[in-house]
Amino acid sequence: MALRGSAAMTDRQAVALASRDLTYHSYLRLRDLLSLQRPFSDDPGELHFIVAHQSMELMFKLMLAELRNLVALFDADKWCATLPCAQRLNHQAQLALEHMRSLRDLPVTSFHGFRGLLGTASGAQSTQFREIEVLSGLRDPGYLAVQRRLAGGRLPDEMVRALQERDLATAHQAAARRLGVTDWARLYREEGCSSPCYLVSECLLDYDDLFLAWRNEHLALVERMLGSRVRGTAGTDPLSFLERTRRYRFFPYLWEMRSDLAADAGGRLVD
Ligand code: HEM
Repeated sequence: MALRGSAAMTDRQAVALASRDLTYHSYLRLRDLLSLQRPFSDDPGELHFIVAHQSMELMFKLMLAELRNLVALFDADKWCATLPCAQRLNHQAQLALEHMRSLRDLPVTSFHGFRGLLGTASGAQSTQFREIEVLSGLRDPGYLAVQRRLAGGRLPDEMVRALQERDLATAHQAAARRLGVTDWARLYREEGCSSPCYLVSECLLDYDDLFLAWRNEHLALVERMLGSRVRGTAGTDPLSFLERTRRYRFFPYLWEMRSDLAADAGGRLVD
């Protein structure tokens, strides 16, 4: 086992040194971490606002690592290992949702006690959020055009780099094809729970669903805090901007296949 920053020591020396000197505080860099919450106002709600956003960014960091693991597992056709990995990703997405949800407890008057100090800072600038979207499989031209406009004409470098990486939806579909899955509805009807591909695909649908829950609840939170007539700090008309993002899906083929199942079972098609 190699310890970071210990290239000149043997592993055993590094472990001995680490166990002698390390404390809970030094290992977790708590002095640094706990000095990173610096409210601009005296309103106690601002600390909650900062901690909720920082906690979410930490969850985003974990999710990005998990997404890359999952892509590598699909590319190596390790179906059994993809299941716990996808479940971890979902638990992390669930935790991110809870952090955002906690801001429903922030009194609206408290929020307006410090909102004026936020300038043009907006969650819409979160580059980790955009990397998650792109690495999960959201890459359609309409979405990218919106991001370009939001960022003032060109995509942020983090998004450009993420676009060069393989995304989860592509890796999942390619692995399924190698397994012989060409018709999703047939896999669901004929194999169902007995197929690892089915089990993992349902887990990915849960992930898409969690993201949609995040978008829905964030939209409701924004309306709760701002009503419907005030611009966001990024300058958007927030409700119509966020409303449009609710149509995004990472795995459209898994949703589309539901129509096939429903139609095959006798459901009447809409015009
Ligand atoms: C009091 C709580 C919150 C309010 C009032 C709020 C407000 C807004 C508004 C108005 C927008 C639209 C863009 C703009 O014009 O600024 C937005 C977008 C966004 N916010 Fe929040 N937000 C809150 C909490 C959060 C939290 C906790 C996060 C977590 C990181 C977050 C992340 C985002 C993201 C990622 C977007 C872009 C969404 C997309 O493009 O799909 N927000 N927010």
